[in-house]
Amino acid sequence: SKSIKLAILGLGTVGTGVINLINDNLGELKRRSGRDIIITEVGTRRQRDDIDASIIQNDDLMAIAASDNVDIVIEVIGGTTLAKDVIMHAIKHGKHVVTANKALLAEHGNEIFALAEANNVHVAYEAAVAGGIPIIKVMREALAANKVDWLAGIINGTGNFIMSEMRDTGRPFVDVLAEAQALGYAEADPTFDVEGIDAAHKLALLASIAFGIPLQFDKVYCEGITGITLQDVNYAEELGYRIKHVGFAVRRTNDKGKEGIELRVHPTLIPQNTLLANVNGVKNAVLVNSHPLGQTLYYGDGAGAGATASAVMADVMDLVRVLGSNDPSLTGQQGHHVPHLSFLPELLSDTPILRAE
Ligand code: HSE
Repeated sequence: SKSIKLAILGLGTVGTGVINLINDNLGELKRRSGRDIIITEVGTRRQRDDIDASIIQNDDLMAIAASDNVDIVIEVIGGTTLAKDVIMHAIKHGKHVVTANKALLAEHGNEIFALAEANNVHVAYEAAVAGGIPIIKVMREALAANKVDWLAGIINGTGNFIMSEMRDTGRPFVDVLAEAQALGYAEADPTFDVEGIDAAHKLALLASIAFGIPLQFDKVYCEGITGITLQDVNYAEELGYRIKHVGFAVRRTNDKGKEGIELRVHPTLIPQNTLLANVNGVKNAVLVNSHPLGQTLYYGDGAGAGATASAVMADVMDLVRVLGSNDPSLTGQQGHHVPHLSFLPELLSDTPILRAE
């Protein structure tokens, strides 16, 4: 059977993590997909001599996105400008896309998903929310038939790492942030982490699937952790609480009787004896209350090379299944229509977002 050819655009923490995962788990990937999964091209500004010689290194990302030598484009450049151009280009050339780019999808996802639908390709983004926790697949698949009442999530690893370290060791904010950067947890611009913007991006993505609404990042009330002092942290502990940076998406009716979804991220006092209060370090957790299932909790590493690469490659494996069973060019059989992995906003598009204030 035909091998699956991957291009990796961007060789930062995540791109390097994906290469390492493929090298480490090559046999596993083949056994479990029935395919050879190979990296054919990588997009990088600087040539790297630690990359296998069989892989083409190219700084022309647009050329890779359109290359005949590529089935799936993995976008891990980050940012909302070049990454957007490259993804749109790849989609127009019939490539499936896997991305970890929450900022791009939160801001331009409605447009990108529509283009993907028009071109009959998939845009998969498990890695964009909560790192290695398979929360996109949970929302889209496991909870597909539930009505979500609310979800609450610790969805920025860097911020949670900082808050946990401050509490446990009393280390100053800037020191811990520098460590989070060194560990590959933080965004290229860590303002996104500490000002709550990264969590707001992720919350917008989660809410779009959980409630079947279009992406509305601009409606998220957003407050970060930069105003939290060590004194705040210690007082909270004394009172039996813990300060966590939490994203909330809540179905509710406001005082004017209007129904909608409230989206907000901000530091929150949580009783110490609850599960969320004990999610520490780079761990993320998402608590979902849905009908008829009730409460479920999803927990794991929310950032870092291994966790993010795990989610990226889970999407690749999903795509391999879809391609293998439906793509005539790969199987020689007539394909049938596949529902898109990416969420297309069409239902409840008139659902208003309620502001927290
Ligand atoms: N900077 C992000 C975080 C990376 O710390 O959560 C994972 O999305």
